[in-house]
Amino acid sequence: MAEKGKPGFGADFTPHMALQHYQDGAWGPLEIVPFAPFSLSPSTVVFHYGQEIFEGFKAYRQPDGSVCLFRPEQNLKRLNNSAERLCMPKVDIDATLQAIDKLIATDRATIPDRPNTLYLRPCMFGTDTVIKVNPSGTYIFSVMICVVGDYFGGADPRGVRLRTETEYTRAAPGGTGFAKCGGNYAASLAAQGRAAKDGFDQVVWLDAKTHEYVEEMGGMNIMFVIGETLVTPALGSGTILPGVTRDSLLTLAKSQGRKVEERDVSCSELREAFRKGMLKETFACGTAAVVTPIREIVHKGELLYQNSGEKPGPVTTGLRQQLMDLQFGLAPDPFGWRRKVPL
Ligand SMILES: Cc1ncc(COP(=O)(O)O)c(C=O)c1O
Repeated sequence: MAEKGKPGFGADFTPHMALQHYQDGAWGPLEIVPFAPFSLSPSTVVFHYGQEIFEGFKAYRQPDGSVCLFRPEQNLKRLNNSAERLCMPKVDIDATLQAIDKLIATDRATIPDRPNTLYLRPCMFGTDTVIKVNPSGTYIFSVMICVVGDYFGGADPRGVRLRTETEYTRAAPGGTGFAKCGGNYAASLAAQGRAAKDGFDQVVWLDAKTHEYVEEMGGMNIMFVIGETLVTPALGSGTILPGVTRDSLLTLAKSQGRKVEERDVSCSELREAFRKGMLKETFACGTAAVVTPIREIVHKGELLYQNSGEKPGPVTTGLRQQLMDLQFGLAPDPFGWRRKVPL
């Protein structure tokens, strides 16, 4: 449990959750119930074949005391894309958003003040109790809430230290990289553990075939400032999770007249750009970590990038601030990204 008033990440649950059952080809009612364990048979499909997907987005306290979700419909659309890939039923986006509003209102006493937030965690899994590789015919869909602080709480203010992963891969073309399914994260643990032992905060995943092109990080997308251009790996081959934060930052940067490129980014390009002084900044982005500066990337024992300054660069700091101002209602909302929760 996190220290009171200073939550960590992922352990502080609110008293209620939303819960829905699927059977005979249809969802039942999505109800608000006390947060409680599930009772499941050892033969439940999810334990054996991993038919499970989830999402993550936040609710932010606004200056007038109200609370807003940030682009939650994007997360529910992504949940439905994940559902399709894993042969699972889709949710009704409007009805789910209404239930989430109701859940937040029920647990309104737990809404923290800025900079802490509520982290919403929808999750769906197969509940048939037959040990057979088949799409389950029954499912549980739940939404729980965590009170969260900084994902990388206590980290070096200059950002995280990363290593490219040149043996294991997170995703391959035709696989499930674009889906948010538990299996992707389980498969990433060995590399993460190994990197942590060697003093790195995270790994940078590379493409499965050549281990030369940058894809993303364990739970975040990655961006580079090359010259004045904001560059990020393209989503093309379905191996990268299409982050809502990624899309928001690209939109923000474009709207401010910055050149933005979604394209292949190779390690040799980065090495060369860094050598020439053109690779000015790099950062990670995602709901949990917002915009997290990167201070160093090591590839095959060689530096691909290093911030030798005291602080993150101005593009990283500026985009982080602008995004947070939008999320916390401290700036106008020109793109209609805030959804007010009726409390
Ligand atoms: C593998 C992975 N990539 C990227 C992201 C960033 O996505 P988002 O900005 O929607 O949180 C996440 C987090 O959800 C993730 O788990």
